[in-house]
Amino acid sequence: MPLREKKIGFLGGGAMAEALITGLLGAGLVEPPSVYVSDINDARQEYLKQKFGIQTADNCTVAGTADIVILAVKPQVISGLLTEIAPHGRPELTVISIVAGISTGFIESFFEGPVPVVRVMPNTPCLVGQGASAVCSGQFSSKSNMEKALAIFKATGQAVVVAESMMDCVTGLSGSGPAYMFMIMEGFIDGAVRLGLSRDVARVLTVQTMLGSAKMVLETGEHPSKLKDMVTTPGGTTIAGLYALEEGALRSLLMKAVAEAADRSSKLSAGQK
Ligand SMILES: NC(=O)c1ccc[n+]([C@@H]2O[C@H](COP(=O)([O-])OP(=O)(O)OC[C@H]3O[C@@H](n4cnc5c(N)ncnc54)[C@H](OP(=O)(O)O)[C@@H]3O)[C@@H](O)[C@H]2O)c1
Repeated sequence: MPLREKKIGFLGGGAMAEALITGLLGAGLVEPPSVYVSDINDARQEYLKQKFGIQTADNCTVAGTADIVILAVKPQVISGLLTEIAPHGRPELTVISIVAGISTGFIESFFEGPVPVVRVMPNTPCLVGQGASAVCSGQFSSKSNMEKALAIFKATGQAVVVAESMMDCVTGLSGSGPAYMFMIMEGFIDGAVRLGLSRDVARVLTVQTMLGSAKMVLETGEHPSKLKDMVTTPGGTTIAGLYALEEGALRSLLMKAVAEAADRSSKLSAGQK
């Protein structure tokens, strides 16, 4: 239990912080009095306090009190926040950042001594407890710091460890991925509407097909191509549909989407520092 008796503080109490608090409390990993949040917006802070029964304080009090602080503000304000809390950096603190495009080295550079920093790239399905998060370590973070971060993000879905050099790729895959999936679903729904199916029915069938297919990959552990072959009868309907997708070069298009988004992520990160 890496989070047992740990105080967890959120700096920035927006959508992501709310999703993570929901996951942590829902999984019983921490009790409300051990969770602290600081937000520049008083009304937001009060809302979170009322909703979860957690504690609120200013940024420096949270950084000085918590065992683990989660940086959950937008990239534009991260430098100001780090300057503010820098005096509270200490080797026994675990700093976890979900700020898109900000490297562990950049965060470490604000502190005088060695402070363990863990960087995480979550995605929006965290808001419904089905996130995909990639976690990487900074130069001072230990196995124990990583275990704490993994425990927190597994409370809102799946979490895996990657090298920091892969964070732009992760951003182009799972970070931007929900938008790709939404667009694919939209295309299928319109395809069925075009043939006369009602939009409501098309939506139910499309969404459940995507959810069910994802669950099959997860639960069987089989390669997606094997599962595809299993539903592809020679001369049947599925191979006719697959031929259309292949003609449109679907797989190379999806590979290109990941590469384009990763490239954009790398350029944006370079501009933020
Ligand atoms: N949402 C996602 O799916 C997702 C996915 C991956 C990564 N991320 C990253 O996660 C971070 C948080 O995202 P979010 O969607 O939760 O953003 P958000 O909803 O805008 O939350 C940020 C909160 O921090 C507050 N804030 C601003 N400056 C502050 C300061 N100096 N001290 C304390 N609080 C301050 C903001 O208040 P105001 O609104 O009044 O400014 C806001 O309530 C971002 O860096 C984003 O890149 C998000």
